[in-house]
Amino acid sequence: MNATDALSRPTNLADFKNSPAEAAAVADAGTSAREPAESLLDNAEIIRVTNITKRVITSDGDLTIVSNANFTVQRGEAVAVVGASGSGKSTLLGLMAGLDTPTEGDIAINGESLFRLDEDGRAKLRGRLVGFVFQSFQLLPSLTALENVMLPLELAGAADAEKRARVILDRVGLRDRVKHYPKQLSGGEQQRVAIARAFVTEPKLLFADEPTGNLDAKTGRTMIELLFELNRECGTTLILVTHDASLAARCGRRLTIDAGVVTDETDQGTMAT
Ligand SMILES: Nc1ncnc2c1ncn2[C@@H]1O[C@H](COP(=O)(O)OP(=O)(O)OP(=O)(O)O)[C@@H](O)[C@H]1O
Ligand SMILES: [Mg+2]
Repeated sequence: MNATDALSRPTNLADFKNSPAEAAAVADAGTSAREPAESLLDNAEIIRVTNITKRVITSDGDLTIVSNANFTVQRGEAVAVVGASGSGKSTLLGLMAGLDTPTEGDIAINGESLFRLDEDGRAKLRGRLVGFVFQSFQLLPSLTALENVMLPLELAGAADAEKRARVILDRVGLRDRVKHYPKQLSGGEQQRVAIARAFVTEPKLLFADEPTGNLDAKTGRTMIELLFELNRECGTTLILVTHDASLAARCGRRLTIDAGVVTDETDQGTMAT
């Protein structure tokens, strides 16, 4: 599949049962800039998480992955989500982006309740506002690095998709790798393509799941600078899952998760009741 073929692909998540992440990437891109430009509410609050619980049924019984989380995020904030492996960070991030549905509770993005929308509605909202860097990258394997980054712009009908994609790939240090397919890239290079794909539309809200997890210290620092440039230049709100102390330290806010219980360390208040 090339990037143009993707234009004709369905944007309903249900059509991608075998590849939900590809579905999310394509569906969001496909709906993104066909929508009118989103104006953020005057309200400074961009995310409101209310009584969110995620429970799954396993062979060992019910497992609560996120337990009654309550918090808000203001526009332009940089929030680090930290916690041990298996504590629920990726699950919380997926819920906040509307990629996963909660057992109880609701999440509003820019004043719009995610779970009162259907999947297409959530995809459209994400397309207008959200960039997402997956922990496992989720690049489309049949597209080159350049095509992966161009995809959200092409689907949006941007005339200058290739130029903009090349600029951002250059900024992540991959000028010489644009023609490589994901399987021809190292883990860190794939991670940088995933970051470039999430950045290229200059989203108002960026979720990134361990964005420096596969990078050496120097490349990691460059990616952190890029994240905070987006935060400064575009007012992008950053929600970053990280084990990287230097990245967490750059964020003005820290949410800790311990066995699904979210605590806002900024005010030391327990967020689960
Ligand atoms: N669909 C599911 N069914 C059963 N268990 C699940 C499911 N999704 C997640 N879990 C479990 O919930 C816990 C939290 O998973 P999650 O991926 O959110 O952790 P994490 O904090 O991101 O960990 P890591 O730092 O290793 O990425 C894990 O123990 C995981 O095994
Ligand atoms: Mg995770």
